[in-house]
Amino acid sequence: MSQRLSVNQNNKPIYDIVYESSFARLAEELEAFEISQKKLCIITDSKVKGFYADEVSAVLEGKCRKLVIYDFPNGEESKNLETVKNIYAFLIEMQFDRKDMLLALGGGVVGDITGFVAATYLRGVDFVQIPTTLLAQADSSIGGKTGVDFDQYKNMVGAFYMPKLVYMNMETLKTLEDRQYYSGMAEVMKHGLIKDVKFYEWLIDNIYEIHERNLETLEEMMYQSNLCKKLVVEKDPTEKGDRALLNFGHTIGHAVEKAKNFELLHGECVALGCVAAAFISWKRNLISMDEYYEIRDMFVPFNLPISVENINPEEILALTASDKKTEGDNIKFILLKKMGKAMIDRSVTKEEILAGINEIYFTDEDWNE
Ligand code: GLY
Repeated sequence: MSQRLSVNQNNKPIYDIVYESSFARLAEELEAFEISQKKLCIITDSKVKGFYADEVSAVLEGKCRKLVIYDFPNGEESKNLETVKNIYAFLIEMQFDRKDMLLALGGGVVGDITGFVAATYLRGVDFVQIPTTLLAQADSSIGGKTGVDFDQYKNMVGAFYMPKLVYMNMETLKTLEDRQYYSGMAEVMKHGLIKDVKFYEWLIDNIYEIHERNLETLEEMMYQSNLCKKLVVEKDPTEKGDRALLNFGHTIGHAVEKAKNFELLHGECVALGCVAAAFISWKRNLISMDEYYEIRDMFVPFNLPISVENINPEEILALTASDKKTEGDNIKFILLKKMGKAMIDRSVTKEEILAGINEIYFTDEDWNE
C-alpha cells in the first residue's frame, strides 16, 4: 500500500492522490499543510457519518487547532444551494477563516458540495477529498470539478477548484452496497476504453478479485483508473478541449438518467451510454463488430445494464440535445477511434444517435426473439 500519484499543471505538482488501506495516515499526510495551526471541518452526509466520522475524528483529534463535523442528509436531493448556505452559516458560526481547511468525507455529492463551498467561502479555503465510494474515487474526487444542482439542472452551478490532497482509503469500498459499487465500475471501465486498452483487458483478467473486493486489486485498479483521468485533466483542466473525452457514454447516459427520473444509478446510465456510443463507433467503422460486442458484453459480468426498458427513444434523443455538452447546434459526441482511444466528433447526426439509443432499448419484441 501507500502508492501515490501526483496531479500536475504546467509541470508543477498541484495535489497528490494517496492510496491507503485505513485512515491511519491521514494526519501524517495533512501535516504537510500545517494543520496544527488550523481549524478543520469534516463535511459529510448522514450515512457516511455513521460509518467513518468517528474513525477520522480520532485520527485527527489533537493534531489540529480545532476539529468540527458538519453533516447533511444523504442523497442527491441535498446537492443544492440551500445545503451550501447552511454550511456557510456553520463555518461562520465556528469562525472559520481563510487559513482553515475543509475535509470532504463521502461520495460524489459530499465531494462536489464541499469543493464548491471551499471555492467560494471567503473567496477560497483549502480542502481535501476523502472519497468513500468507487464512483467518487474513480471520477468525481479527481480533476477539481465542484458544484451543485440548480432546479432540475444537474451540476449547473459550480467552479473548477483543486483539492490539496485526495486521500483514498480502499477499505471503505468494502461497506458499499453492491449496486453502488458496480455503478462506480462503469467509470473505471470507461477510463480503460478511452485511454488504456491494456488496463481495460486487465480489468477483465481480474474480474474475480474485483468482485471479491480484494484490497490490492482495488488499489491497483484505482491507481490505473486515476492515471487515465490524470493524463486527461492535466492537459485540459477546465474542459476547453480534450477533457470532454471523459464524457464518453455520458451524452446518452445523462439523457437516460433524466428520462428515468434518476431511478437508475449514474454508472448504470454511463454503461448504457458507452454501449450506445460504441455502437455508433462500430457503425462508423472505427472499431470492429467483434470489439463492439466485446465492449457491450463486458458490462454484464460487472453487473451493469446493457439495455433499458420503458423509454421513448425520441425523448432520449431530445434530451441529448439539451445536454451541457452541446455547442451551438452541434453535439460534442465522444466516439472510440479504436479500443483505448477516444475522440471528439461534432458530426454525429440525430439518426446515428437514435440508432445508438435503439440499440440499448429493450422492447417487448426482444422478449419474443
Ligand atoms: N467527470 C468528468 C470530468 O471530471 O471531467
